[in-house]
Amino acid sequence: MYRSQPDLPQYKASARAGSNIAFIKYWGVADPRLNLPLNNSISMTLGALHTTTTVEWDTAGRLGVDQITIDGERAEGKKAERVTKHLDLIRHLAGDRRYRARVVSRNNFPMASGIASSASGFAALTVAACAAFKLSFERVQLSAIARRGSGSASRSLFGGYVEWERGRNDETSVAHQLFPAEYWNLRDVVAIVSTAEKAISSQSGHVLALSSPFNTARIDSLYEALQEVRTALTLRDFQRLGPILESDALAMHAVMMTSRPSLLYWQPGTIEVLHAVRRWREEDGLPVYFTMDAGPNVHLICEPDIERDLLKRLQGLSGVRSVVTSGPGDGAAVTDQHLF
Ligand code: DP6
Repeated sequence: MYRSQPDLPQYKASARAGSNIAFIKYWGVADPRLNLPLNNSISMTLGALHTTTTVEWDTAGRLGVDQITIDGERAEGKKAERVTKHLDLIRHLAGDRRYRARVVSRNNFPMASGIASSASGFAALTVAACAAFKLSFERVQLSAIARRGSGSASRSLFGGYVEWERGRNDETSVAHQLFPAEYWNLRDVVAIVSTAEKAISSQSGHVLALSSPFNTARIDSLYEALQEVRTALTLRDFQRLGPILESDALAMHAVMMTSRPSLLYWQPGTIEVLHAVRRWREEDGLPVYFTMDAGPNVHLICEPDIERDLLKRLQGLSGVRSVVTSGPGDGAAVTDQHLF
């Protein structure tokens, strides 16, 4: 087939990545430069909440700086710096520092919804930027690269149920899939109680974890907790999975609250949802457990049979502004590669 040859090769690709919700949390860094975590973490990659990113390396040399657009708005300041730093890493890996990039990224969930966009964002950025440079990395190597942008992004490279190994160095701190998305249709029902941008980013929070007297206790308890989650996933045993994921979310927030300075992400609406979940479980026998990230919104984890009931119940809580839901989905992938 004849294809017309443009003047310059096009270095452009698009990729899509799902966000993820952790059952055993990543909280605390051993090495902030490489984002090497203090502990392994396990998450479910979300199929319905994702980021799509197109990266075009400007081979014509028109751009003086990287041009980054997120959800239709030009990124500036710290947000832009963080993306440029990640692009610098990929330029370095490509052995070609000449080109600036045009990056257009879109979340299918509102960025201000309090759902982590950095996991899906940095996973999609990594895959698109590497594909646009025609770098053929293995998925596990892409996981290591994504980790440098945002720790939790390392997990979004894989679909379904994923464990990120703490590792010892840049090469070994990577994620792998435990089970594919089809293995178990768990649901993440996210009760959004506040859409305000968080005052302290997870990035700064990870460094503070070490200042909490509870941090060591949490880390010491994780060997067993991780094993319990792996077993519960293997057996698809919800009654075994629920208590442990709820307990680790509370342990992580205990570390956050007792670090110096203290991080208090909960809002009144958060506490309303936490109590409601406990009540529904204890009084009505509803099999549902909660987890939370570095923010006030509450993720309710359940099986599909009670999802509808939960949605209705959440609508009855005054502090809940909106609800979004997702099941497990696939790992980050190239959606479009513009060839020469
Ligand atoms: C609380 O460093 O991945 O969600 O700073 O937004 O990039 P960003 O997040 P990241 O930390 C995520 C921490 C967490 C727990 C988790 O997802 O494991």
